[in-house]
Amino acid sequence: MLTALAEPVKFTEDRLLILDQTQLPGRAEYVELTTKEDVWDAIYRLRVRGAPAIGVAAAYGAYVSLRGSAETDPEGFYAEFLLVKEYLNSSRPTAVNLSWALERLDRRLTAEKDGPDGERNRAADERGKSGAAAVERMKETMRAEAEAIRREDEAACRAMGEHGLTLLRPGMGILTHCNAGTLATAKYGTALSPLYVGHEKGYDFQVFADETRPLLQGARLTAWELSRAGIQVTLICDNMASIVMKNGWIDAVVVGCDRMAANGDGANKIGTSGVAILAKEYGIPFYMFVPSSTIDLATPTGDDITIELRRGEEISEMWYERPMAPAGINTYNPAFDVTDAKYITAVVTEKGIAYPPYGESLPKLFEQGGHGR
Ligand code: MRU
Repeated sequence: MLTALAEPVKFTEDRLLILDQTQLPGRAEYVELTTKEDVWDAIYRLRVRGAPAIGVAAAYGAYVSLRGSAETDPEGFYAEFLLVKEYLNSSRPTAVNLSWALERLDRRLTAEKDGPDGERNRAADERGKSGAAAVERMKETMRAEAEAIRREDEAACRAMGEHGLTLLRPGMGILTHCNAGTLATAKYGTALSPLYVGHEKGYDFQVFADETRPLLQGARLTAWELSRAGIQVTLICDNMASIVMKNGWIDAVVVGCDRMAANGDGANKIGTSGVAILAKEYGIPFYMFVPSSTIDLATPTGDDITIELRRGEEISEMWYERPMAPAGINTYNPAFDVTDAKYITAVVTEKGIAYPPYGESLPKLFEQGGHGR
């Protein structure tokens, strides 16, 4: 039942709580974030992770770190916001949802402060009477926008689940990489959403979850959330994807995305591009689930996407009882890679399914009205 789905970001009684994903699957523990440093650290250390969940956490995070501001001038408060925005934006570079969510807050605050199209607005009108009241209104605008981002993401994920399910059939073997589930979003997930929607309808998928080295999002998170929802899941090491495909056990690959360029190249967890190339070789459809909040039409191709590089110790030491590599060994630890559009059979969005050529089909989705753009 879907009641079992975990919520990675909760906002209740004006408190921002995140499920600390670094403790899963051993402990399911919520921690409160109150300062911008808390939020930056939680995103950087992957206590909250997955592109849409990062966007939701950053939006609430900007609000909670500024709600106690003593500033009474709207321009001064906006200047404080810009500092927080820049700081949180620096926590992780690849997932576009982070900057996208903060830009949304920026646009709303600017409109509240200056009024649309140069009209005088409420905040400006009130400044004469009480700057403090105008700033309070700006804080309320931030909270409401963060809530809208969370709500819209949940709806988008549900819609991607419904669209994605049309590509799947009961009994299919499905391979997934990393965690693109409820833990990575407001709810339902992106690539895992059709599995939850199908599960509600009685579909019996056989899911294979890549462990996803080096941070084990597949082993720790995907295996945890699917099995606790009652979906059959088998854990494999990343280098086993080829054998399960060759065995004929995989009918479709479903993955998420951290940033999709205008030409359909999609950055996702390191290892995704290799899975896509294997799928092509074995004639297996490869579906990327990408809410419009993750489509970045301002980035022309995958070559223009910044790939996050992380500490080498994540490869050489983490998860081992003793370091498993020679001390001081050189490491290369990119967190993401880009899957070229030519390997992506279809892009599933909340607005529908896009097919190649993506340079034409993706902009058409935005013509139907963007997701907060
Ligand atoms: O480093 P992570 O765990 O944040 O990476 C997450 C992924 O690569 C997901 O597949 C991606 O964010 C899409 S999930 C909805």
